[in-house]
Amino acid sequence: MPSTDYEVITAADCADLRSRADAVTMPVWPEFILHDPVAENWEALYEEFPQFQFALVEPGTDEIVAVGDSIPLAWEGRAEDLPDTGWDWAVEQGLRDGRAGREPTVLCGLQLVVARAHQGKGISSHAVRAMKAIAKSHGFGALVVPVRPTMKSEHPHVPMEEYIEWKREDGLPYDPWLRVHVRLGGEIVKVCSQSMRVTGTVAEWEQWTGMQFPTARDYVIPGALLPITIDPTTNLGTYVEPNVWMRHGL
Ligand SMILES: CC(C)(COP(=O)(O)OP(=O)(O)OC[C@H]1O[C@@H](n2cnc3c(N)ncnc32)[C@H](O)[C@@H]1OP(=O)(O)O)[C@@H](O)C(=O)NCCC(=O)NCCS
Repeated sequence: MPSTDYEVITAADCADLRSRADAVTMPVWPEFILHDPVAENWEALYEEFPQFQFALVEPGTDEIVAVGDSIPLAWEGRAEDLPDTGWDWAVEQGLRDGRAGREPTVLCGLQLVVARAHQGKGISSHAVRAMKAIAKSHGFGALVVPVRPTMKSEHPHVPMEEYIEWKREDGLPYDPWLRVHVRLGGEIVKVCSQSMRVTGTVAEWEQWTGMQFPTARDYVIPGALLPITIDPTTNLGTYVEPNVWMRHGL
């Protein structure tokens, strides 16, 4: 279906978008990622920046096929200097900037999810285009995104710096999600090595993953881009997720 056939609705025009969007996004994420404490700001994101939270809706059925979330940032620096703490930083800094009344300069993408039943049909490109269009319509000159490469979880022992260099024969990135961004004009800026941080007790990690972690070591878990570190002596498990800063000029 051409992108023009999907309706773009935002939380500014649709009061129940948050709950409808959650019903689409929650089931696609591995449980542990939902426990990044910075994600507790999600309600504030919808309340303070409703015009930047959107969904693609299929006309006729009114079904949400994709959800996108973003936040404006007052970032005066170069894209190359964007912080290593990527996603966590963007959520907190965007809220701080908004509350301080600072003039935003770029839009930062935080999440794009295609509803499970609609994945694999090319909808992700429509969703990226919609996010770029929203950024442009608000006068931003760029969209920056701490991108989570989708197939990195199949290569948890490969450093992200090396992974983003993997290319196909046509020169496009090996990773499908990086590829979507590059095809739509995104440039890879750099790795942000501490983009998300999740800590929990060993029991919590066991509950989130359905695995057991009997000794102190690093463990590969489903859906994580790198192994997690478990230390039963301190009863703590830590996951620090690297993402990839990308920039779309508008
Ligand atoms: C990542 C995501 C948005 C992609 O959306 P999608 O609509 O399913 O993807 P598309 O059909 O548009 O395909 C995009 C590319 O991924 C490839 N792809 C799709 N599903 C794939 C799979 N299961 N395995 C490997 N590649 C896949 C497609 O071939 C296409 O690449 P190509 O055209 O260069 O070959 C979707 O899978 C999703 O919501 N995942 C969970 C959330 C997430 O990881 N979001 C991104 C980080 S915020």
